[in-house]
Amino acid sequence: ESTSATKAPAATPADKKITLGFSQVGAESGWRTANTKSVQDSAKEAGFDLKFSDAQQKQENQIKAIRTFIQQKVDVISFSPVVESGWDTVLKEAKDAGIPVILTDRAVDSKDTSLYQTFIGSDFVEEGRRAGKWLVDTKKDAKEPVNIVELQGTTGSAPANDRKAGFEEVIKSNANLKVIASQTGDFTRAKGKEVMQAFLKAHKDIDVLYAHNDDMALGAIQAIEAAGLKPGKDIIIISIDGVKDGFVAASEGKINFIVECNPLLGPQLMQAVRDVVAGKQLPKRIVTKEGVFTSEDAKRELPNRQY
Ligand code: AHR
Repeated sequence: ESTSATKAPAATPADKKITLGFSQVGAESGWRTANTKSVQDSAKEAGFDLKFSDAQQKQENQIKAIRTFIQQKVDVISFSPVVESGWDTVLKEAKDAGIPVILTDRAVDSKDTSLYQTFIGSDFVEEGRRAGKWLVDTKKDAKEPVNIVELQGTTGSAPANDRKAGFEEVIKSNANLKVIASQTGDFTRAKGKEVMQAFLKAHKDIDVLYAHNDDMALGAIQAIEAAGLKPGKDIIIISIDGVKDGFVAASEGKINFIVECNPLLGPQLMQAVRDVVAGKQLPKRIVTKEGVFTSEDAKRELPNRQY
């Protein structure tokens, strides 16, 4: 007669190692590197089997990775969509296979919100507004036109669309604030430098640079210095992210204002994965908390910056 004590206990869902398929945008910025590390470290800590795939900033690679995750029958798929549009078909395939999807960092524009469980990430429109508010306050006494150039993030990405929209919404309260040129720098230093060089050639009277991330601002700073101008003085610089190198530039007075975008989404994501596997209903939107930093704040905060 066998007793339950001699039998191997039946595996309960709680004992099963959770497999998470994660498709990352790429490695385009310091923010992204910190985000990747956060996801990898948190998955390890949670004891999950993480299948990590780097899409090198290409939507087709992300679609391929998601299809592979479906074939591998992972428990949960998560990804940070490089652009907002064009996801319905592959998300429907995941849904039909019964695999829940969690969006992190960037949103999709799918009308059918049943295609994903939740979206964990920043409010990019609000980030753009915060950048705009600081400029409106700083230039409130300006009697002359203030010429702004804008370095946009990856074309079609949620942060590029939203940061542009939020900034424009706020600066239109002052007719003197004018965006005279706006172009993508693809969220990279190299492209930020290249586009800023072109801006400087085409416009002799740039007062402000609004860069959608620190990396593009850092590239642009090189171009500004090479042109014999002082970043932060001759040209006011506003950027978004708050990575260590951005804080260094801000503490040196080369970036005047940074709006924080938090890349450390790993712990929230792993909790959401656990909840989804346990059958819990998640809120459709989980917003990350963020701050803003002037050069003075950056000096104080720099020693604490982890990424
Ligand atoms: O989606 C977040 C953005 O992507 C970050 O602001 C940028 O640095 C990154 O590449």
